[in-house]
Amino acid sequence: MQWATLVAAALFAKDVAAQGSMLRFACSQLVVERTDPLVNPGMKYTPHLHQIVGGNSFNVTMDPNNDPSALSTCTSCTFTQDKSNYWTAVMFFHHKNGSYIRVPQVGNGGPEGKLINNGGLDVYYIPSGKVTAFKKGFRMLAGSATNTDASKVNKGNICNRCWTSTSEANFVGAQPCSGSDTVDIPADPKCKMIRQTIIFPSCWNGKDLDSPDHQSHVAYGSGVGAGGGGSCPTTHPVKLPQIMYELMWNITNFSDKSIWPTDGSKPFVYSMNLGGPAAHGDYVFGWEGDSLQKAMDNGCAENRACPKAGLTVQTPAVYNACTKKQQAPEAVDGWLSAMPVGDAAMKA
Ligand SMILES: *[C@@H]1O[C@H](CO)[C@@H](O)[C@H](O)[C@H]1NC(C)=O
Ligand SMILES: *[C@@H]1O[C@H](CO)[C@@H](O)[C@H](O)[C@H]1NC(C)=O
Ligand SMILES: *[C@@H]1O[C@H](CO)[C@@H](O)[C@H](O)[C@H]1NC(C)=O
Ligand SMILES: *[C@@H]1O[C@H](CO)[C@@H](O)[C@H](O)[C@H]1NC(C)=O
Repeated sequence: MQWATLVAAALFAKDVAAQGSMLRFACSQLVVERTDPLVNPGMKYTPHLHQIVGGNSFNVTMDPNNDPSALSTCTSCTFTQDKSNYWTAVMFFHHKNGSYIRVPQVGNGGPEGKLINNGGLDVYYIPSGKVTAFKKGFRMLAGSATNTDASKVNKGNICNRCWTSTSEANFVGAQPCSGSDTVDIPADPKCKMIRQTIIFPSCWNGKDLDSPDHQSHVAYGSGVGAGGGGSCPTTHPVKLPQIMYELMWNITNFSDKSIWPTDGSKPFVYSMNLGGPAAHGDYVFGWEGDSLQKAMDNGCAENRACPKAGLTVQTPAVYNACTKKQQAPEAVDGWLSAMPVGDAAMKA
């Protein structure tokens, strides 16, 4: 993936004082279940299925007064100090015979080698200039799980890309959410993988750790894409690290059009049974102490240990071993006769 180098170069060119580095690391699956402590705290069997990664103190309540970095005994993410939780919808393939199957996920590679994920996603923290790390108790939501209108989504921030090969070597692409990337999930037999990108707002109002819609305490800056977010509006003047989720859905097994629905419905949907416009990501901050601030201030890079910030890394075997039992038990893998959704699936 060449864009990481491009971003770094662009940042340096624009502002010598800007950080040329970003954190970019693998997070394996902690659990896949119908919970959502941000939008539906306390509820089991929430309207749709999520994949959750990060600290194992994740639970259905996630009281904002509790500190994930103190309560977690492990994390499924690379950095030992990061007990945050990150979650998204999952993708399903809809067979023409009516059955659904959860699309398998893989890590993404890049110039520094393949990230090893057991399911899950890759997380980025992209600084531009001096940034203020999130405070304890901070949380936010990007995107809308009920949206069906692609024109309401800024495709510079939330997008999907068709990857015509499962080999990294054949990937030529620019920055995420540029070029031919789409808000909709591509439905083209040529696609073997779909790379989904969710970029979060990087500007904060400086006072609220959360807001009723989990969005209005933050705002996007003037930039789009993975460049750090640009300058902040006066209403949300505090520059945060730009968080980006990157997900790789391996649709190779389902690229044969002869097994796609013949009634005009979509072959690939997110777990709300909706397409790309409903893509969303949830974030609950949980780094230990001021480790994230130090990482940003010291130009800690990629998924490498960073002694200046006290960051240590776990081997894939260790972070893969951090998992949790489903709190809302149900089958989520293999061929299913129906997608696991609640009655309120379209409302939340
Ligand atoms: C969630 O975790 C907190 C902190 O460990 C605990 O106090 C609470 O009881 C848990 N809630 C549930 C529903 O498990
Ligand atoms: C649909 O096709 C899949 C793959 O061949 C199969 O495993 C599944 O049982 C089928 N579902 C039904 C309802 O026939
Ligand atoms: C994607 O799935 C195909 C079909 O099972 C498999 O051959 C391929 O190795 C997978 N690719 C990756 C990167 O996991
Ligand atoms: C693709 O399908 C085959 C046959 O069902 C299965 O063995 C394999 O694990 C699948 N690949 C992935 C990446 O899930």
